[in-house]
Amino acid sequence: MKKSIITIAAAVCMAAVLTACGGSQTKTETTAAAGTETTTAGTETTAAGTETTATEAAGGKLVMVTNAEFPPYEFRENNEIVGIDADIARAIAEKLGMELEIQDMAFDSLIPAIQSGKADFAAAGMTVNEDRKKNVDFTDTYAEAAQVIIVKEDGDIVSPDDLTGKKIGVQTGTTGDIYADDIENGDIQRFNKGMEAVMSLTQGKVDAVIIDREPAKVFIKENAGLKILDEAFTEEEYAIAIKKDNWELVNKFNSAIKELKESGELQKIVDKYITAE
Ligand code: ARG
Repeated sequence: MKKSIITIAAAVCMAAVLTACGGSQTKTETTAAAGTETTTAGTETTAAGTETTATEAAGGKLVMVTNAEFPPYEFRENNEIVGIDADIARAIAEKLGMELEIQDMAFDSLIPAIQSGKADFAAAGMTVNEDRKKNVDFTDTYAEAAQVIIVKEDGDIVSPDDLTGKKIGVQTGTTGDIYADDIENGDIQRFNKGMEAVMSLTQGKVDAVIIDREPAKVFIKENAGLKILDEAFTEEEYAIAIKKDNWELVNKFNSAIKELKESGELQKIVDKYITAE
């Protein structure tokens, strides 16, 4: 009996070793490929006058996770993940001389992916809040945001106070979900995608949707008969989430974000996806 347990354990170990092998092989390949960029990256870093040494910053791969259901911050176009966050992440990776890989997953899987080390960071229109800070660190903020309320154009909800006792659609694990929890007698309906919540509003299955302002604007354009209430539910700010205590990476990202802000490149990225009204 004991013996068979040991055998099973050994088999599991073997499998783990094999997987680990596969993993490190991929890593080696990536590093080799990224090595080509080393020279450029080194030069860039020195020129920027940051404290990061060329060898520290150059080469390697950054794995970003996001939930590409959130236009204009991240969405799919011709099967590629594009949007403000994707462009910012590409610009940061370029500054650090690192290769960028973007993985798409459910929004509530992003923080666990960072915690487990599967990903280096999440750029996902993620709002900085105290609860999340217990599990990840945040870079400096790069955008101002708000949770807004989408309702039917001809409905009876005209202010956040009217949400009492209503059916509210939210995207699972978002701040909209968290805030909806505070609504007195609110019946919260959770969806994997913000767009699904909005569609269920169109179908009359929920009375309102609480979601971030910019995606809300995109979604109401795509669904007739809806409007955004003037009064926002909350004001908030977006930042990039990084594994806890990886201050080296947070500092590198903050320097890159600062440069992107100062050079106007960040604004250019925003303007590419959000046209002024
Ligand atoms: N700002 C909200 C939050 O942090 C929603 C973000 C949703 N992002 C996404 N890529 N789906 O909870």
